[in-house]
Amino acid sequence: MSVTAVVGLQWGDEAKGKIVDMLSPGAEIVARFNGGDNAGHTVVNSYGTFKVRLTPNGFSSPGTLCVIGPGVVVNLATLIGEVEQIQQSGIAVRDRLWVSPRCHLVMPYHPMLESIYEQAKGLSRTGTTKRGMGPVFADKVSYNGIRLFDLADDAIFADKLRLQLSVKNPIFQAFGLPPLDFDQVYQETRKLYAQIQECVREPFGVVQETLGRDGRLLLEGAQGALLDNNWGTYPYCTASITLAGGASAGLGIAPRWITQVVGVVKAYTTRVGAGPMPTELTDSTGEAIQKAGQEYGTVTGRARRCGWFDAELVRFTAQVNGATDLALTKLDVLDSLENVKICVGYLRPDTGDRLWHYWELDAHHLEECQPVYIEIPGWQQHSHEVRNFAGLPVKAQAYVRKVEELVGVPVRYVSVGPQREATIEVR
Ligand code: GDP
Ligand code: IMO
Ligand code: MG
Repeated sequence: MSVTAVVGLQWGDEAKGKIVDMLSPGAEIVARFNGGDNAGHTVVNSYGTFKVRLTPNGFSSPGTLCVIGPGVVVNLATLIGEVEQIQQSGIAVRDRLWVSPRCHLVMPYHPMLESIYEQAKGLSRTGTTKRGMGPVFADKVSYNGIRLFDLADDAIFADKLRLQLSVKNPIFQAFGLPPLDFDQVYQETRKLYAQIQECVREPFGVVQETLGRDGRLLLEGAQGALLDNNWGTYPYCTASITLAGGASAGLGIAPRWITQVVGVVKAYTTRVGAGPMPTELTDSTGEAIQKAGQEYGTVTGRARRCGWFDAELVRFTAQVNGATDLALTKLDVLDSLENVKICVGYLRPDTGDRLWHYWELDAHHLEECQPVYIEIPGWQQHSHEVRNFAGLPVKAQAYVRKVEELVGVPVRYVSVGPQREATIEVR
């Protein structure tokens, strides 16, 4: 059995795209199981630099099927644009792309509804990627979604769209927004569907067949565990399940098949959008990390908040995912620092020196937590060119070992640059 799930163990952008791309040669299938085009996964390989939101990161490996499972919500325009861009780079992906007809569609009204909520919340807004994720998943669980299946039948699609607009348009009017025109949305969606129709085919059969003969599958998570809808910093989270457990439901792969879970973590912490982040640095060190790590959102371009590695969080997210290996990324970003800190627990007001765990607390409790740090000397040497663990500066090796000791999971990969080959496999 060889099914590997690759998941983010922080607040997203851990470099899952790079790790999946690196592991993809030899995989028969690379599959996305959650999220939508709120994801932005960067890949730098011999074909160039790609920032993909929906296409699974097996597209650079010829012969690998790229599967989008029913757990993913699809924005047709995003998917079509991406497929075009990949094709233009000389990579034939159309005949390898399998999009489940069970996927729900992001419709034009979803980002509109999201912006009404975000504006109403004012300062307590989530700071979403504006891709309509909350509303599309809300429609999905309340039986109001429109799926790719529905687009195959004009009458069914028309009925469902008419019903949704009959409920949503009065909301838009109440908030001073123009209502959506049925004919326009209907025709535009039909036009988009026609451009990608050939890729809409249920991957369940080919996935099961591959499992049955022990073929290699890679499951590519989007977002990170701390954005998970159940276990993240709710309501500052995302709408889908971001954990390895979600891969099972999101793809129709029974849990017993998933034998390896690679948890991807940055050597520090970042977060885009609002919500608690105990180790956030608002000083010059935070700025230095942001600059060295080029920490600007892939989807929205927003500056990412930066802070020290939080081992309290990652020990929890490794457990909740059942991580068997860690991929520690962007170690090179810390190269110039004199000292490096790691958070090992939290103090809360009026509770003495008791150390609190993330999983005991609600988001608003986390806001008032004081992180407790250990400090480690920085290595102040370049690591970008290093390709084996013994070649890393000794103090950088000690940092990696400390991370794995505190998290309780071995570090299997260390990433020292965006390129596929800028990776150290720790044996
Ligand atoms: P993802 O959403 O988890 O796939 O991550 P993103 O692609 O949104 O963000 C990761 C960013 O870091 C991208 O710009 C990558 O090219 C870059 N990156 C990946 N690994 C490394 C690394 O080891 N070092 C540096 N300096 N950059 C990296
Ligand atoms: P990848 O896959 C980082 C964050 C948003 C916001 C919250 C809710 O690239 O790691 P949403 O648009 O999902 O309703 O926004 O979740 N967020 C991400 N942050 N990386 C992502 O994806 C994210 N996807 C959503 O910034 O705080
Ligand atoms: Mg990203």
